Amino acid sequence: MAIAKKTVLITGSNRGIGRALVEEALKRGAKRVYAGARNAIRHPDKRVTPVTLDVTSASQIQRAATEIDTLDILINNAGVAIYDDLSNFEVIEQHLAVNFFGPLNMSRAFLPLLTRSKGAIVNNLSLAALAALPVIPAYSISKAAALNMTQSLRAILAGQGVMVHAVILGPIDTDMNRGFEIPKASPESAAAGIFDGMERGGEEIFPDAVSPIHRRGEALERQFAAFVQAPAKNPV
Ligand SMILES: NC(=O)c1ccc[n+]([C@@H]2O[C@H](COP(=O)([O-])OP(=O)(O)OC[C@H]3O[C@@H](n4cnc5c(N)ncnc54)[C@H](OP(=O)(O)O)[C@@H]3O)[C@@H](O)[C@H]2O)c1
Repeated sequence: MAIAKKTVLITGSNRGIGRALVEEALKRGAKRVYAGARNAIRHPDKRVTPVTLDVTSASQIQRAATEIDTLDILINNAGVAIYDDLSNFEVIEQHLAVNFFGPLNMSRAFLPLLTRSKGAIVNNLSLAALAALPVIPAYSISKAAALNMTQSLRAILAGQGVMVHAVILGPIDTDMNRGFEIPKASPESAAAGIFDGMERGGEEIFPDAVSPIHRRGEALERQFAAFVQAPAKNPV
């Protein structure tokens, strides 16, 4: 799907990859960018509409879904990553609240608008969704769950004309991994790679150079997806 002339809502748009996505969407000719953030941002471009949006708040999600009247692309970008060792239940819950239930509840709330526009949902995930990063295991669990949810939603919503993308990002130079000394891509290149992937129409978007070995799961996913897209003749 091309970004030009489209209406885009981006969560966590005040910094990092979210902010770069706002700029890249404007550069590619988006008609309107709804910039979701816990503290609404100011932007000089008149095409940007700030939206106060904590993705863990049911009331804020509902208000945003009522105020926005048309939407082509929902980008679930907001996320948290906290170092842990799985000993603190609250930390696990916090990751699931933001990184898993956030995108799920956003997708459900905006589904009527996306169905009407035959639009797209983009879930910003991570390599940690494919293989656990044990310094941030709760984060890894939440991203793995979000990837699995993305695949189910993709199959469930296919009949309504809504495309659901997973973005599998490697390390990006933002506050999230500040102090973690590994090679990182820039948020600007990540944002450009995400929209390039959307414009090419890929379901799973790998914006940076990641081994194609990760794509093998797609064949199995398609086989499973067939169960909701067309009833099996001989179940079992
Ligand atoms: N950086 C990486 O290496 C990397 C790699 C793979 C995937 N990702 C994913 O990319 C996405 C963006 O990450 P980033 O690197 O840009 O991180 P970041 O610089 O730490 O930004 C995180 C963003 O999420 C927002 N956020 C956190 N909790 C929120 C909530 N409850 N409701 C709404 N917004 C919330 C933050 O808002 P506040 O300013 O209010 O906290 C901020 O805008 C995340 O989903 C992350 O998992 C990042």
